[in-house]
Formats: sequence, structure tokens, C-alpha cells
Amino acid sequence: MAIEIGQPSVGLSKVATSDTHGEDSPYFAGWKAYDEDPYDEKTNPSGVIQMGLAENQVSFDLLEKYLEENSEASSWGKGVTSFRENALFQDYHGLLSFRKAMASFMGKIRGGRAKFDPSRVVLTAGATAANELLTFILADPGDALLIPTPYYPGFDRDLRWRTGVKIVPIHCDSSNNFQVTPQALEAAYNEAESMNVRVRGVLITNPSNPLGATIQRSVLGEILDFATRKNIHLVSDEIYSGSVFSSSEFVSIAEILEERSYVGSERVHIVYSLSKDLGLPGFRVGTIYSYNDKVVTTARRMSSFTLISSQTQHLLASMLSDEKFTENYIRTNRERLRRRYEMIIEGLKGAGIECLKGNAGLFCWMNLSPLLEEPTREGELKLWDSILGEMKLNISPGSSCHCSEPGWFRVCFANMSEQTLEVALKRIHNFVEQRDRRGRN
Ligand SMILES: Cc1ncc(COP(=O)(O)O)c(C=O)c1O
Repeated sequence: MAIEIGQPSVGLSKVATSDTHGEDSPYFAGWKAYDEDPYDEKTNPSGVIQMGLAENQVSFDLLEKYLEENSEASSWGKGVTSFRENALFQDYHGLLSFRKAMASFMGKIRGGRAKFDPSRVVLTAGATAANELLTFILADPGDALLIPTPYYPGFDRDLRWRTGVKIVPIHCDSSNNFQVTPQALEAAYNEAESMNVRVRGVLITNPSNPLGATIQRSVLGEILDFATRKNIHLVSDEIYSGSVFSSSEFVSIAEILEERSYVGSERVHIVYSLSKDLGLPGFRVGTIYSYNDKVVTTARRMSSFTLISSQTQHLLASMLSDEKFTENYIRTNRERLRRRYEMIIEGLKGAGIECLKGNAGLFCWMNLSPLLEEPTREGELKLWDSILGEMKLNISPGSSCHCSEPGWFRVCFANMSEQTLEVALKRIHNFVEQRDRRGRN
């Protein structure tokens, strides 16, 4: 800060002084290390490679080409009416053209197997805002949401910090490829009850971040049945649904509800955003799709705090309603992500490293447990420290995703060029070789 100002001890709110935002975890510390010494092929070839950021940069050329060929989407045309209309527009319902385009896009990435009604689409500034907003509506301070582990580290901030809601983990492990079981659901529920905490819902991420895998149809049905039995909500964060390598491998909770003729659907809410599938986190475009009328109305009111700029809505309404563009984008983006995934999996296999079998997302879930000096969280963080310090790679340790089994790491592969990915793989190869040699001597 350029102007130094003395900071006397004037009090702040509990939210301001609480540490439930979770931003002191290695997940965020790794980003800082990258910011201080970022890799660049020419200017800093020994710098830190950022593999902790779930960004999708593999299909930017398609977006840029669309904008070149459709300049009217990002401009206002000749008249001033459109500019003035958009400059003044701040209705929390959002542009109808955009809500329609979003509903249709959400159906398309599910292979047309689920329908979305534009009147149930609530617009928010990204999935971050959508998740927090939903939590405010579904739970009171001190209540809990059950979440399968490992989970996205940002949930600690998004769901807990300002809402005062607790997260109770549903522990999953490698014995069944980290799938949720009815026993694990029951155990988490009972744990909350034993702490006198009221459970208000289950929140799942499908496909999962950090596993990079979809939830099986039967498991999804079991989770919905569990929520129905306990009379609690089910939130499905489907922000990676367009990043499934093959659309037929993904079952949305929306499909299950359609199959069940929407019975019990009033407890189900879907979170989605364009941050991952279109690679536009900077545009801050998210949505809550709820089957509960009261939740839709309340969420819309609350969305006043977190609206999407009308300029962004105007641009994306054109882009997403262009059938030819969206079909080509969805197909090509999936193919490119699959190719990247295969490239990293092969590279890691060459270094003797196994990953969980994935079918979606911008990352893989890597098993480095054979490299741990001791099979504990401390052992995992020690290895993470060496990976950051010696290998100069920022990856996310499983413990930052609340994984209870040490040795797993999330590695992102879509936020860099293929050349940079090759450099990263070479570094991993050398690191493992060095460790092997050290172990033998
Ligand atoms: C599961 C999950 N939910 C929500 C978010 C936040 O997304 P957004 O950029 O749309 O706020 C992320 C981002 O990494 C995520 O992985």
C-alpha cells in the first residue's frame, strides 16, 4: 500500500475477523508462490508452473473466432437505443434473451436429455455467488451442509464464511474410487446430530472437483433418496458438466428428476456457471436453477447483490443462442480436454504415477502416496513443499480439499499450453527419478 496509515485497534465485525474463509490453506499459498516466481518459457524457464488453477484455456481460439465473425455481439449496432437500453438495464430477472440462451445451453451440454425452463434460471455473478446465495436461503447460521470429500477448497469460503453455516464432511476414499456410499452419508448425518447441529442439505459436485470424475447414476439416485428420507435439500454443483469428455458419460440430477416425473424435486437446486465450460471466469456468469418456486423468488431478490453486467449478458445471449457455434464449441472443447487428459495421464504413467480414472474436468487426481515419507497429513504437506520448492510446480494437496487419505494431489492441465505441460511432466519425471536414486543410496 503506497500511503502508510497507522492502524489503531478499531473493532470490526465477527465476519471480518473470522478465519472460516479458509484462505490460509496450502491451496492459496501455492498460488502466492506462483505469483512471486511465475514460469515463462523465455523469460523465466525455471519459474513455478501453475497447476493449481482449474482454468480452461484450450478453446479460446473458438471464442475469438466467433467474436471476429460476429462483431455485432460485442457492439451496440448503429442506433443508440440498444446502448441506452443496456446502459440502464439492471432488472434482477436479467435479460430474457440471455436466460433463454442459458437454459438452452444447459440442456445442450446434457446431450438434450434434460430440459431447463428459463423462468427458473436465476442469474448470479459466478457459481461462487450462486453457492453462497443458496446457502443463505437453505440454512441458518449454525446449521450444516453435508459435502463429500475431497471437495473444492473454495467451498469453505463460499458456504461457511459469511453465512455462518457449517460443513460436515462425508468421508470418501480410494477403496471404491471415492464414490459416495449410503453408509458414508448416514455416518456424516449422525456425526452432525451428535454435535447437535441441524443438517439442512447435501451438496455434491458432479462431475467432481477435484476427482475429475462423474458421479454414477445409481449413486446419484441413492443421494437423492437419502435427501428425501431425511427431508433435506440437495444442491448439485454441475459447473463442469460441459467438460465431461463424452456427454453420454454424464448424468445430471435434472435427468433423474425428469425420469421420476419431478416427484420430490422441490428440494433440488442446480448450480452452474460459464467459468469452466466456456473458460470465462472473469466474466462472472453463474446461475441457480431451482425446482422450488420459493427458492427461485428469494434467490432472484438476493441476486441484486451479485448481478451480471448487462453488457456481458448481451454478448453471451448472442453467442449461446447460435446453435452452430455452441454445437461445435461443446464437441471440440470436449475432444481437446480429453486429449490433454490422455497426455498428462500417459506422461505420469511414464514416471510410474497412477491417477484415479477420470472422465471430466480440467484436472486429474494423482496418487503420490508411494512417495510419502510417512502416511499422514504432515507427510503429504512435506511432499507438497518439495514439489513446490524443488520441482517448481504448484499442485493442490488432497488435505486442502479435506481428503482424509494422505498422498493424493489435484493437478490442473487446461490452463497452459501443451509445451508447458510437457515441461511440467519432464520435471515430475526427474523428481521421481531423483527420489528413487536417493532411496536406493
Ligand atoms: C466446484 C466449483 N464450484 C464453484 C466454483 C467457482 O466458480 P465461479 O468462477 O463460477 O465462481 C469452482 C471454481 O473452481 C468450482 O470448482
